[in-house]
Amino acid sequence: MRTDKSHALYQEAKEIMPGGVSSPVRAIDPYPFYVQSARGAQITDVDGNSYIDYCMGYGPLVLGHAHPAVRAAVAKQLEKGWDYGTPITLEIDLAARIRTHVPSIEMLRFVSTGTEATMSAVRAARGFTGKDTIVKIEGGYHGAHDAVLVKPGSAATSTASSLGVPPEAVKNTVQVPFNDIGALAVTLEKHEPACVIMEPVMGNIGPVLPVGAYLKEVRSVTSENDVLLIFDEVITGFRLGAGGAQHVYDVVPDLTTLGKIVGGGFPIGVFGGKREVMELVAPLGAVYNAGTFSGHPISLAAGLATLSVLNEEVYRHINRLGDQLRRMLTDRLAELRLNLVVQGIGSMFQLFFAGHPVQNYEDARRCDDRLYKRFAGFMRDEGVFLPPSQYETCFLSLAHSSEDVAFTVEAYTRALEKLFGRVVGNPNPQHHTT
Ligand SMILES: Cc1ncc(COP(=O)(O)O)c(C=O)c1O
Repeated sequence: MRTDKSHALYQEAKEIMPGGVSSPVRAIDPYPFYVQSARGAQITDVDGNSYIDYCMGYGPLVLGHAHPAVRAAVAKQLEKGWDYGTPITLEIDLAARIRTHVPSIEMLRFVSTGTEATMSAVRAARGFTGKDTIVKIEGGYHGAHDAVLVKPGSAATSTASSLGVPPEAVKNTVQVPFNDIGALAVTLEKHEPACVIMEPVMGNIGPVLPVGAYLKEVRSVTSENDVLLIFDEVITGFRLGAGGAQHVYDVVPDLTTLGKIVGGGFPIGVFGGKREVMELVAPLGAVYNAGTFSGHPISLAAGLATLSVLNEEVYRHINRLGDQLRRMLTDRLAELRLNLVVQGIGSMFQLFFAGHPVQNYEDARRCDDRLYKRFAGFMRDEGVFLPPSQYETCFLSLAHSSEDVAFTVEAYTRALEKLFGRVVGNPNPQHHTT
């Protein structure tokens, strides 16, 4: 496989941008591929290599790349101009559609990223309750703002937050492990926080599911303690179904954050929820929030087009592919006698380089990310683009097919054999786990 052009471009990029990239996970070792174009489930690089894409822009592209409905909506909006600094009808249309599907969102505000959405939701929760402390889940990722950059996912090997985040900025952030209701209950009593912010299905340490009645228990214990519950559904919103994880698990949060899919692949964020909390947001109330690009017409048009295409049939398709892929891959691992774990839900999945199920951040940290990175490189050689870190989630889209899944499972097999040697019949299948 030739990659000379990507290699040369990366040398140039490194001179001018830290790590040569605009977001750290993209700095694939030894160098990323540079994209020429993408359509459907395929992404093609400047050297002419094509890959089946399971990164899908890290989640927004639930319809696949360059879906015709989204292209048409964006083209139509471009004709009319694209930045007005004054309200447009599309805002009301998209807000109403979101509220229809996610009824816990009584009022909402559009912002430009998921980071802004969680930052603003936390500010609203603090403003409403008059309390400063917030509780987050270890390994939960809510974007790159100071208050939540403590043991964030996506960088799950670091325990620190980040240089440049003053201790004062995180001194009011308390952490608890996922799937541990006892720890949460004790923390709420001890710290009396404004809110708990959590991904109902974690997506930034790989996909990690709530076990048993965990989310319902979280709801009970937060209600009992008068603590606002924020579900960060930036990944799961309109991914696990139109109602998101809150519908799937039948748990009603006080506030919700959305992003990714609701912008159809263009920058967006949303925070919303209980009317009495949202009525505190400026200009109605004293919780400040603003943005030059908030409610950007192109993002609204792309998001509305995306939500218009999403229906039961689409969710059936992507969820069935997810089930198929997880089942086939699990069977194949057994045939190969490899003690690795496949996890996920709906159209989210990941292969964990660990011999144990991953139920929280500590479990995730015991995965072998270095091995995963080598493996993801072998997968690219096989024509499959996976997110390049163990601590990301793979995404299926409407554009993926059963044939893509079958091809992908064969690619997994060859890549794993390359990584571990031919292990069929290996009597000691755990030799490679950490
Ligand atoms: C759950 C979750 N919340 C928030 C964010 C931040 O969103 P953005 O990258 O749009 O700022 C992400 C990004 O991946 C996310 O996965």
